[in-house]
Amino acid sequence: MTLVLSARDVRRDYPVAGTPVHAVRGISLDVHAGEWVAIVGPSGCGKSTLLNLLGAIDRPSAGSITIAGRDVARLGDAEATRFRLTGVGFVFQRFYLMPTLTAAENVELPMAEAKVPRVEREARARELLGYVGLAGRADHRPFQLSGGEQQRVAIARALANRPALLLADEPTGELDARTGTEVIALLDRLNRDGTTIVTVTHDEELAQAARRVVHVRDGAIVDDVVRRPLPPAAPADGAARR
Ligand SMILES: Nc1ncnc2c1ncn2[C@@H]1O[C@H](COP(=O)(O)OP(=O)(O)OP(=O)(O)O)[C@@H](O)[C@H]1O
Ligand SMILES: [Mg+2]
Repeated sequence: MTLVLSARDVRRDYPVAGTPVHAVRGISLDVHAGEWVAIVGPSGCGKSTLLNLLGAIDRPSAGSITIAGRDVARLGDAEATRFRLTGVGFVFQRFYLMPTLTAAENVELPMAEAKVPRVEREARARELLGYVGLAGRADHRPFQLSGGEQQRVAIARALANRPALLLADEPTGELDARTGTEVIALLDRLNRDGTTIVTVTHDEELAQAARRVVHVRDGAIVDDVVRRPLPPAAPADGAARR
């Protein structure tokens, strides 16, 4: 099995005046190609802090994080920016689409930043929007889309540069139950097609859909349960990646 993510004794202290906050207290975690891990735990236990470290949005105070063979804990600013563009795809609770751009242009944006030629990125944006069921919405702007549709555009955007790992922080947090179920079904399809996923969530339905559930309390892993093992002939890294 190909190791996509390996975190070793990761710590993150926030230096707040008086009493520093120890948000992540020595987390070690391995994620293999094809897995879908849901990180769950009470509010304030360090889930978002951990996900931001895994996505090179933030740096750990101590420990190492290797993603697709790169030591992301020690990247310089320019390298971290580059890594966020191509190494991981990030999906947020609040979508964060560019309001002035169409759905297709939003999906093209990370490809434009990665200097993918126009013809290629237009074709890939159409392909991805088709995959997430939004072929007919390519020229809509975010305000012309429902919440669930906006999140599907954000998922397509996160996959644009074919990242090794999709990270999602409460991707159903802003959605009603029915729309949330649609987004969970899309994540499930992506995972079955070979995308490696780590989601942080309070949503029990989302946690139940994942292959593996990691419980966090006070910045540490307290439980790690594989609910649905990978099939024996898991796709090689990237073979079926979207
Ligand atoms: N920038 C910051 N400065 C200081 N403390 C912070 C900062 N960001 C988060 N914290 C603290 O770190 C701890 C972990 O926060 P984090 O956002 O990771 O929790 P969470 O598990 O994602 O919670 P939720 O489920 O509510 O989103 C909390 O106690 C929080 O108050
Ligand atoms: Mg959070």
